[in-house]
Amino acid sequence: MDRFKSLPVNQLHQLLEGGPTLLVATRGFEGITNIMSMSFHMMIERKRGLIGVVIGTDGYSYEALHDTGQCVLAVPTYDMASTVIDIGNCSGRRIDKFERFGLTPILAESVRAPLIAECMVNIECEIFDRRMSGHYDGFIILRALHVWVDADREERRTLHHNGDGSFYADGEYVDLRDRIQLWNKYRK
Ligand SMILES: Cc1cc2nc3c(=O)[nH]c(=O)nc-3n(C[C@H](O)[C@H](O)[C@H](O)COP(=O)(O)O)c2cc1C
Repeated sequence: MDRFKSLPVNQLHQLLEGGPTLLVATRGFEGITNIMSMSFHMMIERKRGLIGVVIGTDGYSYEALHDTGQCVLAVPTYDMASTVIDIGNCSGRRIDKFERFGLTPILAESVRAPLIAECMVNIECEIFDRRMSGHYDGFIILRALHVWVDADREERRTLHHNGDGSFYADGEYVDLRDRIQLWNKYRK
């Protein structure tokens, strides 16, 4: 095993965290909007638009999501990297993150949580299944209700967190769509 070095299990996330880092917007019943950064997520089911997310139970975002059952998942881009870090480094219990970070809330169509105007994609979501939340520190399955894409946006590179405050940005594009027939069959 000379070739491989051992990594503590509690650092494993630094290897697997690669999906696009998201912002989670909420609006609690008292009307306060909030945002957190989130990179622990995965697509679970395509047809119903189910997404698994981990939203720590001690955060203010969790409270609003838990109470209202709704949130917006927004996709920030490369130019927003430092904002994403700073949003994830403070709590909405003490500050208005929309105001602090100069972000613009927009009324959503089906949920009380706002869209974030500066983000490339906004996904209106409701809680689909929260039964495992207590077992896995806020693991919740969300269902996407609407997906809004800003097609005119120039910066389209997404951020991929390495679990330690550093990111990769989207880079090379490899088009192998004509080789993926089996997956295409399932996509119908
Ligand atoms: C890049 C990045 C990714 C993060 N990913 C997650 C995550 O997947 N789940 C989580 O609970 N917290 C994550 N955090 C930490 C939360 O964003 C942070 O605890 C949150 O901002 C708490 O704010 P709140 O109290 O306003 O909800 C992440 C932070 C950063 C900077």
